[in-house]
Amino acid sequence: MIWRSVSTRPTRRFTRPSRVVATAATPTRPPMPELRIGPQRLQVASGSNLLDELLADGQPVAWSCRSGHCQSCLVQAQPGQAPEAACSELDPEQQAQGWLLACQCQVRQDMDLHLLDPAQDGLPAQISRMEYLAENILLLGLHPERPLRYQAGQHLSLWLDAELARPYSIASLPGEPELQFHLALKAQGQFSQRIQRMNIGERIYLGRANGHCHYQSDWQDRPLLLLGRGTGLSPLQAVARDALKHGHRAAIELWHWHPESGDCYLRSELEKLAQAHPQTLRLHLHPQSQLSSDMASLRLASRHTLALVCGHPEFVEQWRKPLFMAGLPRRQVFDEAFVSRQ
Ligand code: FES
Repeated sequence: MIWRSVSTRPTRRFTRPSRVVATAATPTRPPMPELRIGPQRLQVASGSNLLDELLADGQPVAWSCRSGHCQSCLVQAQPGQAPEAACSELDPEQQAQGWLLACQCQVRQDMDLHLLDPAQDGLPAQISRMEYLAENILLLGLHPERPLRYQAGQHLSLWLDAELARPYSIASLPGEPELQFHLALKAQGQFSQRIQRMNIGERIYLGRANGHCHYQSDWQDRPLLLLGRGTGLSPLQAVARDALKHGHRAAIELWHWHPESGDCYLRSELEKLAQAHPQTLRLHLHPQSQLSSDMASLRLASRHTLALVCGHPEFVEQWRKPLFMAGLPRRQVFDEAFVSRQ
């Protein structure tokens, strides 16, 4: 989870357009770009962060990771107004439409903005299932009202309203009747609290699926090392199931570390899957206390192994060195750090 403290900002002005006439007695100030949101005008310091400015003005904008990963802070500008850094992670269609990530946008010029309206810009979906897989893990099932394009293991943002969105990995496979997510519930989490009060049949909104942690068709003969903690298992089990569905031929080693007080929340489903594919899928479902010793004893099946690592950012970071030391180049490691606010 990333929390970023908000620094003191320059004095803000949120007014009708006005003209400042420079005279000999008027000291020149650096130009202040103008943000135009419908009839509203907001002048901000050049180089300021767009998300900070919108939030400080009370504009209805969602955000979660602040690291350019989750896409919950999308806003739309006129083509050509978005700096490269604010839209390079988006797909070409989004870029052509002027979408950008507000958390990655330094305001350097005037911008005409449309704030994302989930009901208009998102994909509506009805809640079809809410089941607890563990005390703090909720299985959320959805029926999107239009087809959603995604690959097993990718993630997307779920919007409850224009100001409340969080990214979650997709636990289901394309073609399955229900779109599923494993939500790690946070006691003080705004999203966690709201979603648990919702009912079957209520509507939420989906963003676009994205992320590189998904199975690729040319991986069939490459051993897969899937490493996850907590709900990092959600995309990994989807990747494993997708691989098996596509006739994966090399070994799949699925490792998951669970809290000492509990068990792997998908143990029985995974064990059934492994029994159905005894030559391919091997499970290692261990308590968290075994993580260090498991890391130390890591051995790769082949130098062609591909590793997928999903979970809390600390967990993902922890694996970088052991995987490198085991002989896995960075290009053979795909990771997904679950960075999200409460
Ligand atoms: S991408 Fe901006 S808050 Fe996550």
